[in-house]
Amino acid sequence: MKVLVVGGGGREHALVWKIAQSTKVSEIYCAPGNAGIAKLAKCVNIGAEDINALADFAERERIDLTVVGPEAPLCAGIVDEFQKRGLRIFGPTKAAAEIEGSKVFCRQLLAKWGVPSPKFAVFDNPEEAKSYIRQQGAPIVVKAEGLAAGKGSIVCLTLDEAINAIDRIMVDREFGDAGKRVVVEEFLEGREASVMVFTDGKTVKPMLPSRDHKRLLDNDQGPNTGGMGAYCPVPDIDAALYDQIVETIMKPTIAALAAEGRPYKGVLYGGLMLTKEGPKVLEFNCRFGDPETQAVLPLLKTDLVEICEAVIDERLHEVETQWSDGACICVVMASAGYPGAYEKGKVITGIDDAEREEGIIVFHAGTAQKDGQIVTSGGRVLGVTAVGNDFTDTAEKVYRAVSKIHFDGAHYRRDIFPR
Ligand code: AMP
Ligand code: GLY
Repeated sequence: MKVLVVGGGGREHALVWKIAQSTKVSEIYCAPGNAGIAKLAKCVNIGAEDINALADFAERERIDLTVVGPEAPLCAGIVDEFQKRGLRIFGPTKAAAEIEGSKVFCRQLLAKWGVPSPKFAVFDNPEEAKSYIRQQGAPIVVKAEGLAAGKGSIVCLTLDEAINAIDRIMVDREFGDAGKRVVVEEFLEGREASVMVFTDGKTVKPMLPSRDHKRLLDNDQGPNTGGMGAYCPVPDIDAALYDQIVETIMKPTIAALAAEGRPYKGVLYGGLMLTKEGPKVLEFNCRFGDPETQAVLPLLKTDLVEICEAVIDERLHEVETQWSDGACICVVMASAGYPGAYEKGKVITGIDDAEREEGIIVFHAGTAQKDGQIVTSGGRVLGVTAVGNDFTDTAEKVYRAVSKIHFDGAHYRRDIFPR
């Protein structure tokens, strides 16, 4: 089989790495890919959002299966376009992807079908939003409706911050048209967790739970980022709680989407808050998480291509998904200055040395090849990943690997393990 992976970050490197282990696969392409992906796949110079060029490429190269990483092409209808052309693709249609594409749609769907969620209200008028916020008080959360590269949710600890968030999103249009409408919602307290499931719209096969670390600095300090590391599984989610999450959140949401005429196929990602009253939905994503995927896929024993094919053919019930015992940790190494402005082109050394040790995989995110060297080309540069028997062993291993890798200004968190 010939497989095309769409995207070029750490998540896509993990997807390519896992797909490369499938005995069904002869060739892998990745658009646009990165320097690490280039070792396993042919990188194709097409942007992840150039849907027509991707479909043309898949037709021309007779690609048997396309797997999409990022949300933007999914929300823009890449699956619909491929299906129209008779091409096999793994992911939700545009209508189903709206669960991530519109926070208003998501919140209204969950409320209608009784999926545990924070109290919320929707506004298209900034003055009305502000008067609701004054009524509710702080802390409170303000979210732009549309896609905002993960930056559209503002957790406001004071009233002033919340009023200011309305101005930023609705008046200054910091996130463009994504901020035409806002969701204002109840602030939830607890620990966060990410639960991803495979689904063909009927059958649901949960992956192991994982936990992202969104803040830049240790002990969850500093600004929000795209994710500074993840671990899998999550020790504070026991079997009963996991079952509760799947049965009261994941399955009902997939059933609700089907009932609304938007059958969901692909990976559904629930971003959850584990509150005192039980797990509640912070957000849904229509895709694999980044960096969660880098920590989850190394523990998946089953062939990912077999799962993707079963999802497309709506026979996921036939596949048994198997998971390794043990633990996985992914530590992100980022450029100095990230998530603000940063320089590119810093030479990276020590990757081969780090990977020589058993159980270490270095997933590339923002890297490029230049004059025979690997250099930084993005904010998040590498996802150094270790698989081990338990978290103590795995944490030691992953940080030993991180210490072997160098580039100017490299920043990483030192607390990516269960505490
Ligand atoms: P989102 O883009 O909706 O995932 O939000 C980004 C981050 O904001 C989440 O990972 C949480 O840390 C935080 N967040 C979002 N919604 C809430 C909420 N209702 N209560 C508390 N924190 C939230
Ligand atoms: N790790 C958060 C996300 O993938 O959206």
